[in-house]
Amino acid sequence: MTDAAADIESGLRALSESFRERLAAADDEPSMRAARAEVLGKKGELTKILRGMGKVPAEKRREIGERVNAVKAEVEADFEKAVTALARRRRQADLEGRPEDLTLPGRVGTPRGHLHPLTRVKDDILDIFASLGFAIGWGPEVELEENNFTKLAFPPDHPATDMQDSFWVTVEGGEPDARVLLRTHTSNVQVREMMANEPPMAIVSGGPVYRRDDDITHSPMFHQIEGFLVDENVSFGHLKGVLTEFAQRLYRPDTPVRFRPSYFPFVEPGAEVDIGCVFCNAENGSRASCRVCKGTGWIEILGCGMVHPDVFEHCGIDSERWTGFAFGLGIERIAMLRYGIPDIRLFFENDPRFLAQF
Ligand code: PHE
Repeated sequence: MTDAAADIESGLRALSESFRERLAAADDEPSMRAARAEVLGKKGELTKILRGMGKVPAEKRREIGERVNAVKAEVEADFEKAVTALARRRRQADLEGRPEDLTLPGRVGTPRGHLHPLTRVKDDILDIFASLGFAIGWGPEVELEENNFTKLAFPPDHPATDMQDSFWVTVEGGEPDARVLLRTHTSNVQVREMMANEPPMAIVSGGPVYRRDDDITHSPMFHQIEGFLVDENVSFGHLKGVLTEFAQRLYRPDTPVRFRPSYFPFVEPGAEVDIGCVFCNAENGSRASCRVCKGTGWIEILGCGMVHPDVFEHCGIDSERWTGFAFGLGIERIAMLRYGIPDIRLFFENDPRFLAQF
């Protein structure tokens, strides 16, 4: 049965096969388009094959029609595939031929870093004191026992000097009686500055300190700010004025501030400063359940006091003429309160998921 339908069938089969061969041989898009036009174009091969349609019996036309549509779709799909594959090959060859193109822009912008949250809080605190007229001072992290404890009037058996609190350092070839440790507080700056300068002076300083402490609110290395002011006729009133101004600039102008008597060997009298809890306040009635202030409504932020006359004498300053006040605070504590950070170790793990939040 060499009928018209069978001729069309075999014509279609030959057409799609030869089209695929021509596509495979084409090495650019124009030749691929030309091959497609040869097949599907008005004067193309398909049109020629379909001339035999007139001789196809009516009951077979529908079937042949469907075949024709399928072949057309196949040709289009093959064409698209070939064009995409060609583009991919070109790009690959291009990349391999010129592996580095210095004119290409980066895929992502260079990520921008920022200061560590502790650095920010430290700078903010130092800024406040600088604006109040304090100069910035410095002291070493590896310090003589004398500057860390003795000149600050710590009795030799004071618990802070205990092996459990301090990191002692052995210095090879050092003075046999010079005991060296990692400073346990920034108060060594008081000693060094008072030994080196004549009053009047007002100095702040910030940096790392070390104690044998390790839990969710204590780290063996943490940071403090130290400040002190020495002049004639300095009173506890000056201390209260400066530290109240500081707390209200750091938090808010209406922050409540209170001074509570406390003890540090190098001040007399000594005090601790509390601010009204920034997490709960009387208005929202959550005071009793607040975990930060433990229901008291107050949070301790620093230690302070009037410089003890013995400290002046140890540092060569006439305690009859000069008086002064000093204060010290923990930067981590202030930062934890400011940002609501529950665990001090987060500051030192340097996990970008934490750091990126500031
Ligand atoms: N150095 C004290 C501490 O680390 C803080 C302090 C500094 C207290 C200055 C009074 C005056 O706890």
